[in-house]
Amino acid sequence: MGDYKAKLPEYKSLKGISERMLAEHLKLYNGYVAKSNEIVDKLASGTVDLSKSAATYSEFRALKLEQTFNGNGMYLHQFYFENLSDNGGQAEGEVKKEIEKNFGSFEKWKDEFVATGMAGRGWAVLGLNLEDGKLYNLLYDAHNIGGFVTLVPILVLDVFEHAYFIDYGTNRKDYINAYLNLINWSVVRKRLEKAKKMYSIWTS
Ligand SMILES: [Fe+2]
Repeated sequence: MGDYKAKLPEYKSLKGISERMLAEHLKLYNGYVAKSNEIVDKLASGTVDLSKSAATYSEFRALKLEQTFNGNGMYLHQFYFENLSDNGGQAEGEVKKEIEKNFGSFEKWKDEFVATGMAGRGWAVLGLNLEDGKLYNLLYDAHNIGGFVTLVPILVLDVFEHAYFIDYGTNRKDYINAYLNLINWSVVRKRLEKAKKMYSIWTS
């Protein structure tokens, strides 16, 4: 049985993210969790004919495709909601140092992250690459299209239209600027600490 559970945020709205827009967003997120469970159950049911698996069309192919679409849809939203807060503080200490080391300066990172958010059709993700230990801003055009397979997400930005259209219309830039003030830097710091430990294990 699929046992994924939604991890819902404690807040009902944020500065620059209305209650209605967040409620609609959470409906989508819950949908990804439900579908992920449905796919796990279907794959375990024994009713899918593996011998008919084909890259043109097959029931198994559809399930495998949607497993990553819904699975990443679930995880990326979870990380996105988790890394937002009305009182997230500032980037400082180790996080700021690491960003400066990788991007030249905090401003350079921010400019590239915003540009990644403007260029992506789905997500912008700051993450640590387990292969070289470096930070990257990478984009996803869909939940399962983009990124490195070795990227551990540190900070996730949703740029699908559903994430901002209700409050901002077509003005994605203003949404991203509001988002920058909502980053929960203590969450980012904890993720970075864990990712660095993962990197040392991965490369040992
Ligand atoms: Fe979303």
